[in-house]
Amino acid sequence: MKNIERRDFIIGSLTSLGSLAFLNGRCDTISSALVDEIKKASDLNSVAYNVAVLGDTHYDTAPETVYHAHYDESNIHAKIQHAEFKRNGEMWRERCPRLLASSAALAHENKTDFILQLGDIIQGDCDHIPTHQKMLDDCIKMLKKPYPDNMPFLTVVGNHDFRGKGARKAYFDFAHPFMAKEIEKLTGEKLDKQLTYPIISFRKGPDIWIFCDFEKANLNKICDIIDADSTARHVFIVTHGPFTTYANTKSYRWRLGGSPRALKSRQRLFDTLSKRRGIVLSGHTHSTTYYRFENSLGSFCEFTGNSVWTERSPLTATPNSSTPEQYVPAERFLEKMRNKEDFHSEINFFKPSLKEYYETRAAGHYRLKVTENSVEMEFYLCDSRTPDRVFKLK
Ligand SMILES: [Fe+2]
Repeated sequence: MKNIERRDFIIGSLTSLGSLAFLNGRCDTISSALVDEIKKASDLNSVAYNVAVLGDTHYDTAPETVYHAHYDESNIHAKIQHAEFKRNGEMWRERCPRLLASSAALAHENKTDFILQLGDIIQGDCDHIPTHQKMLDDCIKMLKKPYPDNMPFLTVVGNHDFRGKGARKAYFDFAHPFMAKEIEKLTGEKLDKQLTYPIISFRKGPDIWIFCDFEKANLNKICDIIDADSTARHVFIVTHGPFTTYANTKSYRWRLGGSPRALKSRQRLFDTLSKRRGIVLSGHTHSTTYYRFENSLGSFCEFTGNSVWTERSPLTATPNSSTPEQYVPAERFLEKMRNKEDFHSEINFFKPSLKEYYETRAAGHYRLKVTENSVEMEFYLCDSRTPDRVFKLK
């Protein structure tokens, strides 16, 4: 039974019981307590809220010496990483501040409950703990600043967030108390347990939110959390690395549940999400991508956001692919793919249930609109203040 149907059933049953008690003249107080309970349940389920959403941000600044003065040049990826420092410094000079200003302007104009950033909030690669801490601190302050004062800011761990020497501890020492503080601010309730990765979960009103360290989270544990909360209205999973295989990358297994060891638990999570009409929000691929799956158990959606607005980002929201048939690897990737068989088996796990698909390399910002009966994601291209697309997530 769906949650809303279940609630209606409970309300109907309780109302009948209350009326019977009243008719029998037995106890007015029972019926009024029941009515209060019914009203509370109904009020909770009608909660609606909006979220300002940012994809990967890769915060950094030029010159490189600000955050990368201690960078270890013997790193085998030095060439690529220097190119990334340059890209980030350039995009954070002018384009990304404009994107951020537009997202914040919408949050000022429309009631917004919190900001959600989908991981890789910083570039990392400092190789120096105090510098890594400073990069995180500067980034959070800068990202929060244009939004309304005191607006809760949630972020999920991404691979860049702890990249560099000593950075893993530096990140989690920052992230655990930061997330606890922001979640308490958001829910208005003191947490009764310590929240620590690889899985952080909490209720926002009638909805359950589950934040995952995509490289470490055990999928069975995620399913157990969802199963244990059978009355949650909407189920959200926030993971930097997507759950669905991204078709246009050689690192197609670098995602939530991408390990060959997770074959069984991946199927369980797929089924659990289908039954509960769950919603997965992710980043990592530097693309704006939407997937809607449907099967005999139900349906669910995944949405991947991207705020890495490089000079090569498309300036239109016209997708590269817009039908499920186009959920295939780009030829140029396939040519270079060493293990094509493995790649196709991953794609073929998702493809049969894929009913809607949209993919573009375009960057932007997003707004999640949550109501009792629907969840929608608005996509604002680059620094636009009017949505280019609206994706129905539920
Ligand atoms: Fe990433």
